[in-house]
Order: sequence, then structure tokens, then C-alpha cells
Amino acid sequence: MIHLSELHGAATHLAVVAIPLFAILYALRRAGVGGVAVEKAEPWALGACVVGVAAAGATGLLVWGQAQTELRGQSFRAGTAHFWIGIGIAVLVAVPALAHASAHWRGTRRPAARAFGALAVLAVLAVAVQGYLGGRLTYEHGVGIADAGQFAQSAVGARRLQAAMDRGVPAAVAGRAAFSAQGLGCARCHGDQAQGQRGPRLAGGIEIPDFRRVHGHGLFPARIVTDRDVATIDAWLRTLGR
Ligand code: HEC
Repeated sequence: MIHLSELHGAATHLAVVAIPLFAILYALRRAGVGGVAVEKAEPWALGACVVGVAAAGATGLLVWGQAQTELRGQSFRAGTAHFWIGIGIAVLVAVPALAHASAHWRGTRRPAARAFGALAVLAVLAVAVQGYLGGRLTYEHGVGIADAGQFAQSAVGARRLQAAMDRGVPAAVAGRAAFSAQGLGCARCHGDQAQGQRGPRLAGGIEIPDFRRVHGHGLFPARIVTDRDVATIDAWLRTLGR
């Protein structure tokens, strides 16, 4: 399946590079530094800004569509702010683009007003804020993460573990199943026998604070994997030799 909304990342990065580049080239030309190379590069950078912003806008609308069903109240407001800053950046880019284009068609000198420099600086700042908000929307709120990505297994694994404990399955047995690749999947990084792989050796037992420090704000939030769940996994780990 083609995920068009993922192209938002690619499109925005074009604008993220082109907008500061244009600001630098514009400043250099005004300062009379860099000669013909800067003169020639500037319209290309501005063109890349226009293409980047247009592509970011078009693909952004696809992500916006996803946000309708994926972001709750307060978080949706962050999406709205992201949207309007995007419109603002489009305006900030359109003004110098139109001025440059009209100078080109009329055969007059390219604009070099200080005001355009200020607009470019403003656009760079807006891009930074925009990127930060976009990052929060993706990495904190998880907009557009298909089928909840890696978190899906955390949720399913925790539910199964809790059901096993409620049925009275012995902790070491339930803990072992939760640790496995089919449960919470700890084994995929720490090894089937907790002997250590990408993650360190856990055989012999773990401490809940260590678990929270590494995994609490990532794959296993406390709201999904409770202290009781961790203690159950630990019951199995303690049966293994250190
Ligand atoms: C995607 C890979 C991955 C998965 C899945 C994973 N871990 Fe880890 N874990 C790591 C890595 C890598 C580290 C070491 C990170 C560090 O020390 O900064 C780590 C560290 C830890 C630590 C801290 C060890 C110490 O001595 O400080 C504990 C405890 C831990 N993991 C428990 C678990 C448990 C329990 C699970 C399953 C619920 C799990 N991990 C699933 C990769 C993973």
C-alpha cells in the first residue's frame, strides 16, 4: 500500500533545507559577497522553497485527514497550530517568489530590500517552530503511525499477561510468556533466555526503576505495562541464573 501521507516528511525536508538556503543566499547577494555563483543560485533556492512548500502543503492535507480520527481535543489544537503556521510559511515564501518572478519578467533588477531579508529570517524561525510541532505530533502523539506501530504489541502483550494473572497462572509461567517474542517481545532484544542481545542480560532479575528509566517513556508506558506486569516478568527472570 502506498502511504502518500508519509511523503509529508520528504516534502517538508525539501522546504526545511531550501528556506534557510535562500535566506543565506539572499543575505550574501545583498552584502555583495559570492559574485555570480550566488546570483545564479538564488532563484534556484527560491524555486526549491516554492516546490517544497507546495509539496509539503499537498501532502500535509493527507496527514490532516488522518489527524481527524487520530488526535483527541487538546492535541488536535497542536495540529491546527501546525496547519496555520504552514499557511504562514507559504505566504512568507510567496511574497519574495512573486517579487523575484515579476522582476524577472519585467527585466528589472532583483529585489534586494531589507524587508525581504526580514521575511526570510521570519520564515526560517517559522520553519523551526513548525518542525518542532510536527515532530511532537508524530513522535509524542503518534499521528499517522499505522496500526499503532510498535506499540500495538505492547498493548496486546500486556492485555494477555493481565488476563493470565487474573486466571491465576503462576507468575513465573505468565512472566515467561510475556517476555517471549509472542508476548511483550522483550526476548527480541534481550534474548530468549534473557541472556542479552541488543539489550543487556536480564537473567537473574530486574529492578522496576531501571525498566522505567529505559522503557517507561518509550515502548512500554506505565499506563500500558504496569508495575505488576513488570514484577511478573521479574518472577520468571529470577528463576534464571545470573
Ligand atoms: C526494542 C528492543 C527492546 C525491547 C523490545 C525491550 N528492551 Fe529492554 N532494553 C533494550 C536496550 C537496548 C536496553 C539498554 C538501554 C540502555 O541501557 O540505555 C534495555 C534495557 C533494559 C533494562 C535496564 C537494564 C539495566 O541494567 O539498566 C531493563 C530492566 C529492560 N530493558 C527490561 C525489558 C523488559 C522487561 C522488556 C519487555 C517488557 C524489554 N526490556 C524489552 C532494548 C529492548
